[in-house]
Amino acid sequence: MCGIFGCILRTGEAASTIHEGLKKLEYRGYDSVGIATLQGSQLFIKKDSGKIDSVHAIHNLEALPGRLGIGHTRWATHGAPYKENAHPHTDCNNQVAVVHNGIIENFAELKTELEESGHVFRSKTDTEVIPHLIEEKLKEGLSLVDAVREAVKRLEGSYAIAVISVKEPNRIICARKESPLVLGIADDSLYVASDIPAFLSKTNKSVIVQDGELVVLSDKGYEIRNVIDWKLVTREPEVIDWAPEMAAKQGYPHFMLKEIHEQPLRLRDTLRLQDKYLELMTTFLDRAGEVFLVACGTSYHACLAASYLFSKLSFLATHPVIASEFVEQHGKSVNIDSLLLVVSQSGETADTLDAVESARLRAATILGLTNVVGSTLTRVARVYIVQQSGPEIGVAATKTFTSQLSVLSQLAIRLAKKRGKVSHVEIEELEENLERIPDIVEGIISGSEEKVKQLAKKYRDRCCFFFLGRGMGSAVAQEGKLKLMEISYIPSLAYPAGESKHGPISLIESGFPVVFVCPKDSTHKSIIGNIMEMKARGASIIAIIEKGDEEIKKLADDYIEIDTKLPEVLSPIPFVIPLQLLAYYMALERKCDPDMPRNLAKSVTVK
Ligand code: F6R
Repeated sequence: MCGIFGCILRTGEAASTIHEGLKKLEYRGYDSVGIATLQGSQLFIKKDSGKIDSVHAIHNLEALPGRLGIGHTRWATHGAPYKENAHPHTDCNNQVAVVHNGIIENFAELKTELEESGHVFRSKTDTEVIPHLIEEKLKEGLSLVDAVREAVKRLEGSYAIAVISVKEPNRIICARKESPLVLGIADDSLYVASDIPAFLSKTNKSVIVQDGELVVLSDKGYEIRNVIDWKLVTREPEVIDWAPEMAAKQGYPHFMLKEIHEQPLRLRDTLRLQDKYLELMTTFLDRAGEVFLVACGTSYHACLAASYLFSKLSFLATHPVIASEFVEQHGKSVNIDSLLLVVSQSGETADTLDAVESARLRAATILGLTNVVGSTLTRVARVYIVQQSGPEIGVAATKTFTSQLSVLSQLAIRLAKKRGKVSHVEIEELEENLERIPDIVEGIISGSEEKVKQLAKKYRDRCCFFFLGRGMGSAVAQEGKLKLMEISYIPSLAYPAGESKHGPISLIESGFPVVFVCPKDSTHKSIIGNIMEMKARGASIIAIIEKGDEEIKKLADDYIEIDTKLPEVLSPIPFVIPLQLLAYYMALERKCDPDMPRNLAKSVTVK
């Protein structure tokens, strides 16, 4: 997730406006920053790695001439956060400059093709194929607009781009597929950005660019066309009445809620990982003598779910381990045949890195799954995958958890395929179902939010909660408990439901809330038994169920029904959504700040 910005001013210098706009987009990423402007037929570029303020302190980003330009603040996906990977990227002759937010899935094929026809690449990014594709089309004699149109037709994946060129120095061409892009319309200036706050101090009139559209900004105004049929699109600007604070959160009251709602988008991005890294990791997993899944907190819950996935799908036994216990528990036995699949959103968690260090000293193989390119985990791992969630600002992990689950599911499915443990038909079904998950999650958020709000009102004064699940549902129960506890400060417990009768059930008395995670899988009958046990002792049962689960509806005091129709191994992603919402609305009911829970930090870099 990166931030892009562009503007055409009637008077004044564009660079200072772009700098200001990028500052508003810095929440989208801050690995590097760059600005390109045009004056006459000359292109000027400044870019470097680092946060906007530090790059500005060195290079003075505002010292670029021209009243038209584009800029970018980067969240690294392809290519480390170095200067040469910073946007804008240019073609071979520095005539075209491009900023991009998104992931070009077929960049490797396009790059090979372009290199074969003589193009020289300077970065490791997927983005750089775009200016070279445009250059090719310009060479064929196309106008800039047509060249951009033809180039985007070749792109697979997601993108919001802004393009300028010395060939037509009075225009910015933009296009969008799946990554956000909005226009800002003022009397004497035009803006394009990833997000409205970037230009809100200049104008409150905005046009949302839709998927598959290309926009030409010029002194004459803006023109939107459909890339495929080239039909003109007429769309009047809307007036945006957000306060600046709300704008950064895109109108949501908290980052946590914004990030919960962002999950369908992020899950789609997570399905666009580079094949070669998934394949490489699968090979390492297949060959390892023993596999540990190592992480803390929410990332550990993703590991817990993954241990079921690897076992059920790939017939691989794995050991999920809480990172802070790893050295004590396994430090002496780890050896050259051991493999650690280490999961850390930040890639900087001290306990996790400590486990990695001790295992590395004993020659174990380290694989990393993280959200932050350039983090310590990416430097120490033999192979790493970046989960593509974009920056998570709310302290409680939400979108990064579901993205982790998606990547781990992809790995388990690949490993199953490699090992020939699951039929081709089943693999295809699983892959199709993974593709459906973003839409399913969208439906769950919109379908359950109101009901969850009511539940939060009803249960807000309870002093303790129980979360129970079986099989993969027990990992979801753990995560539901952590979310509720950490942001609304209600002491909570989670157990595999079968274990609850070996002690914890003694807590139950009339009205004690017990949240059950109930996918319709092989554990369904047993979970009904556990519900009965709790009910018989007066517990209030809150069940997360599959749509149409009449049996549990009859038993539960309250239920959230979700429509998934997914195979059991893919159930954790949809089932955790209502629990994230429950934690959020419970925090609001109890007047707690969900974005900044007390005593917690987003990245725990102390042991
Ligand atoms: C809970 C939460 C924490 C983190 C944990 C590990 O909402 O965010 O439990 O999951 O601190 O952090 P990473 O994944 O960055 O290693």
